[in-house]
Amino acid sequence: MKPLIVANWKCNPTTLQEAKRLFNSVKEEMRNLKNSEVVICPPFVYLSNIQYLKSNIKLGAQDCFWEGKGAFTGEISPLMLKNLGCEYVIVGHSERRKLGETDEMINKKIKAALSAKLKPILCIGETGEERKQGKTFKVLKNQLKNDLKYLISNIYYLKSLIIAYEPLWAIGTGNPCEPKEAKKVYLFLRKILAPYQACFGAGLKKIPILYGGSVNSENATSYIHEANFQGLLVGGASLKAEEFIKMVRIVSNY
Ligand code: PGA
Repeated sequence: MKPLIVANWKCNPTTLQEAKRLFNSVKEEMRNLKNSEVVICPPFVYLSNIQYLKSNIKLGAQDCFWEGKGAFTGEISPLMLKNLGCEYVIVGHSERRKLGETDEMINKKIKAALSAKLKPILCIGETGEERKQGKTFKVLKNQLKNDLKYLISNIYYLKSLIIAYEPLWAIGTGNPCEPKEAKKVYLFLRKILAPYQACFGAGLKKIPILYGGSVNSENATSYIHEANFQGLLVGGASLKAEEFIKMVRIVSNY
């Protein structure tokens, strides 16, 4: 499987002009990209403008609602995203959970995204305090169990699912989780996910697991080649075209 590199622009940049400039600089360099898949997730408001500039970069959104349409002021439905050319959608990012998003809401969003034929990237991760108390595995197991409720062994749903392990204490801090530590979590998540993907059959497709949290061009390959993750979720470093391009190149040419 080609490594999947997902750029999460979060609430940046502040103008369409800058968004186009950033997208175009990355696009130029990705023309001959073969060994990895790059997804850019800009803020909703830039999606339709960026769609027309699409190249071999895939488009994703940073969130979605669980209903298709109706009286839900301010919400964006998975069908709307699909219609704009999105293939991916981040769901349950810790910055949204902090604003009050619950596992129940996340579960509904995942199901709605999958029904709309989007590929949801479900973010899970423990806080620094939970890690100190030795609760990392327990927290991750609970998040997966609740966020993926009713999805177990449903091949129709699970074939498009992606998981991102993002320890909260590593996000935006410049303090990434050491690849050795991240590998332990990766192996644990694989074990937890085994019953979910039992429907794929032995040796077939694996649900991809990405790592996210202070990824940069220096540490990117270690998560893929040492810790065995299938890709990366990149925040801060994806806003600097040069740094992001360097990272994609290093990962793709390894
Ligand atoms: P970061 O963010 O790369 O800036 O740590 C990652 C994320 O929140 O997805």
